[in-house]
Amino acid sequence: MSIVYDAAARTLTLHTRESSYQMQIGPLGHLLHTYYGRRAEGNFRSLHLLKDVGFSPVPHELDGETRGWSLDTLPQELSGANSGDFRLASLCAVTADGRRGAELRYVRHEIRRGKYALRGLPAAFDPDGEAETLSVILADEALGLEAELLYGVYESRDLITRAVRVTNRGSAPLRLEKAASCCLDLPFGDWDVLHFHGRHAMERQPERLPLPHGELRIASRRGESSHQHNPFLILCDRHTTEDAGDALGVMLVYSGSFELALEKDQMDAVRLTAGIQPEGFCWQLRPGESFDTPEALLCFGHEGLNALSQRFHRFLRQDLCRSRFSRAPRPVLLNNWEATYFDFDREKILALAREVKDLGADLLVLDDGWFGRRNDDRSSLGDWFVNEEKLRGGLAPLIRDVKAMGLQFGLWVEPEMVSEDSQLFRAHPDWALRLPGRQPMLSRSQLVLDLSRPDVYDWMFETLKGLLERYDIDYIKWDCNRSLTDLYSAALPAGRQGELAHRWVLGLYRVMERLTKAFPQVLFEGCAGGGGRFDAGILAYFPQIWCSDDTDPIERLTIQRGSCYGYPLSTVGAHVSASPNHQTGRHTPLDTRALVAMAGGFGYELDPGKLSEPEKQRIRRQIARFRELSELVREGDLFRLTELDDEKDYEAWQIVSPERDESLLSLVVTRPRANAKPLHLRLKGLDPAARYRIAEREIFDAFLPEGEWELPESWSGAALLYAGLTLPRMMGDYPSLRLHLKKTEE
Ligand code: DGJ
Repeated sequence: MSIVYDAAARTLTLHTRESSYQMQIGPLGHLLHTYYGRRAEGNFRSLHLLKDVGFSPVPHELDGETRGWSLDTLPQELSGANSGDFRLASLCAVTADGRRGAELRYVRHEIRRGKYALRGLPAAFDPDGEAETLSVILADEALGLEAELLYGVYESRDLITRAVRVTNRGSAPLRLEKAASCCLDLPFGDWDVLHFHGRHAMERQPERLPLPHGELRIASRRGESSHQHNPFLILCDRHTTEDAGDALGVMLVYSGSFELALEKDQMDAVRLTAGIQPEGFCWQLRPGESFDTPEALLCFGHEGLNALSQRFHRFLRQDLCRSRFSRAPRPVLLNNWEATYFDFDREKILALAREVKDLGADLLVLDDGWFGRRNDDRSSLGDWFVNEEKLRGGLAPLIRDVKAMGLQFGLWVEPEMVSEDSQLFRAHPDWALRLPGRQPMLSRSQLVLDLSRPDVYDWMFETLKGLLERYDIDYIKWDCNRSLTDLYSAALPAGRQGELAHRWVLGLYRVMERLTKAFPQVLFEGCAGGGGRFDAGILAYFPQIWCSDDTDPIERLTIQRGSCYGYPLSTVGAHVSASPNHQTGRHTPLDTRALVAMAGGFGYELDPGKLSEPEKQRIRRQIARFRELSELVREGDLFRLTELDDEKDYEAWQIVSPERDESLLSLVVTRPRANAKPLHLRLKGLDPAARYRIAEREIFDAFLPEGEWELPESWSGAALLYAGLTLPRMMGDYPSLRLHLKKTEE
């Protein structure tokens, strides 16, 4: 059993292979958190002294006995508001007569096989039948409030999931003002936070900071998880590197406004609460009704950041994403967006298809502009019928002709949105989010459909279902190009408007769930103006997400690095685009662009008709190489070979097969230097006792001034791990190198 209850010590301990997590039922029934860290047996209650720190209140029952037992200092499993704990609250309820807070005490618990599910929300499942669930019921009798703390334990994956189900057990309505998915108290340690911020076309830039005293909030209020912040962060010891040291990751399985709040308190203890963004949130619970929070994924490891990332990668691929494509080969696609933007017709698309076929790709994606009267981004969202002016004869003959060439066909949609200039909006103006009496904010000239309404999410499902039934479509790119503003629903009563942002996400998930179940053979790719919704909520349904609208490979090195601290390479949509790049104007070599895009779900985003024959020849070779390497990229363990704050002139990463019999080293020179220092790397993840040879050595677009690069026939894994490799001096604009190592008997 990975969950152990010690009745005498009143402890509940969750063990994974490498970590232990413990809570204890305190003398008055409060659920205290005693430990989360490297696997260890024992009762960790004694780690927490009952010390009077001054001005920290004591429960009434303990007055006169002690001044050291305070909810303000003791670590807890779920902190309540207005309960004498002045740190971050996880739960706050308000009764009809204005009593506000949550002081939770233990009622009972249950340990069961299998993994709990959440109502209407994506959550990890249990494909191998190894998960166990701990449910702990806490209650605030005075408020009629019950909180069921749910823990899913995946022992072999070193992962613990958490969520909370809040129920109104009273006889009058309750209002929830905050309901975090988890609270994690870390009383000891010197923690840095590594988080991922950015903006459109520059998402998930990693930033590592020592935690200051006070509060730090990594959050989105945009209705989507956002380009600006990601619902994933890592807390790590100040000395943790990519390959050593304590690291603890927290990821929300949620795609809406969220908050990851951190507080370093008066005693240097750290608290993290993670969940739905509380600002503007408010949820009515009638007697007997429950509210489920989104799920949070927790992972602790002591072997540095690479190992932590690998655990999240495996978990997301195997235990979260239900798509049959999650672990299957994906088609190499060509998307027409950067090739044509809105300027295309049937002939242009067919010409692209012929080129795609000739290059050896599998799938042609028709992006924005195929529907309604859409010739720019100002109209027609919502009118999901074909633009006959552009595509004479309609979609069916186009798809037929594309398929006749032996290609698959993919289509772009943006179903959550509506243009004011659309038939849909004219018919249903009340379907858009807008405040009565005020003109709504426009963004990209579009409005947001009110997905909290059953008639709207049913329309959305039926419309997409209709498209997928009518046409022979293999792939859908699901875009979402604006944030939510003007949060008001014409269909919700006044007292429930605070529920809108979350109900909107539930409506979205409902459609995604129904659609992916009804059409499991369709490959869905998430997108939100690039990577504005790159999160585990989307990945529970869709196996890949377009990572960023910035396709410049040098910018992508940072964007993809930031993405892969938490998310596996198999989820990262990455394409080769034209040079000079449309977003930055930078010139880069074609093979370096491909090498970077191969650290993801690979494809193209350019007009092959504009390429020379030698360039096309190189693309044919790239596609063939990707096919050979794609399983390794998808299923292998990723190792970052550089530290985040290294002063470096290159970026390098390595992928190692789960059996450690194959590895791929990729390197891009980002800054060629005169009289450069030797470029030396120690490899990672190999079997020290095995021997490896270079199965394929590819140096792209580098001028090698010092001539041949002499290498031995083979090396021991130990030699590559401990002595490393010195690479040749590579000169030129962004040259790159790829070494494919294979185990050998010689
Ligand atoms: C934003 C996406 O990220 C792009 O790839 C493209 O699909 C455009 N939207 C189309 O409007």
